[in-house]
Amino acid sequence: MSLLKAEIHCHIEGAADPDLVLRLAQKYDLDMGNIIKDGKYIWSDFTTFLQAYDRASSVFKTPDDYRLLTYNYFSKLAEQNCIYGEIFGSSDHAAQMGIGYNGLINAMAAGIEDAKSETGIEGRIIMTCVRHLGPDAALSVAELIADNPHPMVTGFGMGGDERMYDVSEFAPAYSIASDAGLGLTAHAGEFAGPESVRDCLDYLNVTRIGHGVRSIEDANLIKRLRDENIVLEVCPGSNISLGVYDGFDKHPLRKLHEAGVPVTLNSDDPPFFHTTLDREYELAKTDFGFDDTTINLFTRNALEAAFVDEPTRLKLLNQLETHS
Ligand code: ADE
Ligand code: ZN
Repeated sequence: MSLLKAEIHCHIEGAADPDLVLRLAQKYDLDMGNIIKDGKYIWSDFTTFLQAYDRASSVFKTPDDYRLLTYNYFSKLAEQNCIYGEIFGSSDHAAQMGIGYNGLINAMAAGIEDAKSETGIEGRIIMTCVRHLGPDAALSVAELIADNPHPMVTGFGMGGDERMYDVSEFAPAYSIASDAGLGLTAHAGEFAGPESVRDCLDYLNVTRIGHGVRSIEDANLIKRLRDENIVLEVCPGSNISLGVYDGFDKHPLRKLHEAGVPVTLNSDDPPFFHTTLDREYELAKTDFGFDDTTINLFTRNALEAAFVDEPTRLKLLNQLETHS
């Protein structure tokens, strides 16, 4: 039987199939010609990827569009034998389309509930700020989440361009999120080096790092990640697609694992990178040479690091353990 899976790093707008984006674009009379060609997203580097991502996001104009997007993503995850998913939501992207915070959250939660009632998959939401929009915008996002608690919103994160601003400037936002009881993660060590990861640990108190793969460049940091049990949300397909590494043979997933750093497998923005969670698990076997026992350990790492209540975590861990 195929392995059970879990995913803790996927941006919901980045999970939108080009088909769905084109359908909504037609409905709202928007032109996607500069980001979708022959049914595939087109972009050339990290900057143009982020621009294409923002453009694709602009077709989600109502809460029901977000509900459908979320339902589609979780239904597809369940088809891939995934038992748990965490999505990154962005109130900044939704606000640009005129969708308020509660409308967005309730819509994503409804999408998760609908998929759960059909498939049993569990899901939670990590609300994110966008690094290149700056610390003031991040603070507003954190305040919005803290002032509007929702049982499905269990984490706070930061995506966007990590080459912008000093991490320490985001400490006030993370402090508010932490006081609100949210799990904390941040993208780092993807387009910047180990110092970017170290700053997130020093200033933001995160327990997980989005990507973090470039930590491998600093042995002291690797030791710290291992000693402090900081979990890396690794997205190999994304890293190769965005050119962080030239090929899977250059990717440090195996080195990170062998150094004792807890790693997980994730799809990030699957159709943008022509990937799926299934493919990431398959790559772990075919290109990285991991056996099923080790891949199951990666899934266990994800469940142990998940921003989820303890009874649900125990249920999921038990599901993983009893699956053969
Ligand atoms: N937002 C969506 N995907 C991202 C990535 N890979 N890195 C940073 N921000 C993102
Ligand atoms: Zn990401």
